[in-house]
Amino acid sequence: MPQTWWRGAAIYQVYPRSFADGNGDGIGDLGGLRARLPYLKDLGVNAIWLTPWYPSPMADGGYDVADYRDIHPDFGTLGEAELLIGEAHALDIKVIIDVVPNHGSTASAWFQEALADPAKRDRFWFRDEPGDWQSIFGGPAWTQVPDGQWYLHLFDPGQPDLNWDNPEVHEEFRQVLRFWLDRGVDGVRIDSAALLVKSETAFEDIDGVHDIYRDWRRIADEYPDRMLVGEVWLPDQERMARYLRPDELHTAFNFDFLACPWEPEALRACIDRTLATHLPLDAPPTWVLSNHDVARVVTRYGRAETSWDHGNRRDGVPADLELGYRRARAAALLAMALPGGVYIYQGEELGLPEVEDIPDELRQDPMWRRSGHTVPGRDGCRVPMPWSGEEPPFGFGAGSPWLPQPETWRKLTVEAQEADLGSMLTLYRTALRLRRDWLGDGTLSWLEGRPDVLAFTRDSGLACVVNFGPDPVRLPPHGSVLLASGPLDGGELPGDTAVWLSPRTP
Ligand code: NOJ
Ligand code: CA
Repeated sequence: MPQTWWRGAAIYQVYPRSFADGNGDGIGDLGGLRARLPYLKDLGVNAIWLTPWYPSPMADGGYDVADYRDIHPDFGTLGEAELLIGEAHALDIKVIIDVVPNHGSTASAWFQEALADPAKRDRFWFRDEPGDWQSIFGGPAWTQVPDGQWYLHLFDPGQPDLNWDNPEVHEEFRQVLRFWLDRGVDGVRIDSAALLVKSETAFEDIDGVHDIYRDWRRIADEYPDRMLVGEVWLPDQERMARYLRPDELHTAFNFDFLACPWEPEALRACIDRTLATHLPLDAPPTWVLSNHDVARVVTRYGRAETSWDHGNRRDGVPADLELGYRRARAAALLAMALPGGVYIYQGEELGLPEVEDIPDELRQDPMWRRSGHTVPGRDGCRVPMPWSGEEPPFGFGAGSPWLPQPETWRKLTVEAQEADLGSMLTLYRTALRLRRDWLGDGTLSWLEGRPDVLAFTRDSGLACVVNFGPDPVRLPPHGSVLLASGPLDGGELPGDTAVWLSPRTP
């Protein structure tokens, strides 16, 4: 692979707890993931990104890290993590890990020291009086400790915010990066990347944060072929792009695309905005349809309002899943055809819908607790993967999965879809195979035409056409059809369908 493997990579997001359970305790683990690496190889992805795998009380699915230099016992051991990295590399799959520099865990040695000794509180945000900020999960962002002081947590109380004005915090994260880069990881995903630096009155996108990423980039550059990807949720694309300057992060997740409604005008504007902000910086765009924080794309695109808004999650809003499924197939071909990298969240390749009927007593997401049981939260997109068989646990592992899987998933297992040429899994496999030769890094040229159609060609000559309208449309001149997200209608492209065209005859 070239030095800059991430520029056009297809990166598969593994949520380890829900991917595959190797030891039968109902919780996904590294043994399960290692056994399924051949599945990911066959799927055709270039890299995996694992959400946090470190020891943690799991106040927020592991985004409350207690110790960066070890693995959560539910997932396995440090030795197994090293084996996983080696085995993935042997299959030519890169490995990206998650770091969470905005906050730590109340179970970390640092926080325990801070609790025991008020002189050791400067690594966090302790104050005599609480501020008035609200936590992103609901409720106040300040919690009182027994001696009367308060600490800041922008997320759950189990996630105390770190104080990036303290040089010790900088040094610790330098060492954490080296710890994992030395073990061969190819990339680092940076959680809540815009929130680290705070003043007394603001915490989002404060200029000083860029110095941290310049420092981290220098470290990454000491190793061959490593990348940094930022989780930067900022409404302003220009501000977002500042994180991608040549001496900062290599890439960032494109949440503008994820949040965009399934509408041609809005999507075209988003794509243009993305290219306009990324290309001058020579930073590859990324295309993201979903992740472990948002409603599954099949469900979202089946609703009357198809955009995504963290503040209005639309849980339980009725969805036409057949329509959502058709659109999700078309969206997959669109995302995979655009210039740059693409992220695929586990289960997206199976067309899994959001699970909206998880019994309340089984819900784990702090959003559910912190919202006073008014926001169901993110468990519905984190239900364990269905691999095989006719009933739960669908080959996930021998035990009962940590969140229940719907009976209806028997039709969506890997086993069921492998045998079906028309399945979502077959579509993803075929698309990822074609993508290696035809797509990835580069630029696009729009083909102008009807307002309800998006069409563009890529550097290779491949044309991608997506019809958003109700009526079938004629295909532009082409040599042959490489792949379509649904059946063509007498050579025409039906609504909510996408096609990849080759300029050559077969
Ligand atoms: C973003 C992560 O993706 C999400 O799952 C987590 O809850 C927050 N950051 C806090 O770490
Ligand atoms: Ca397990």
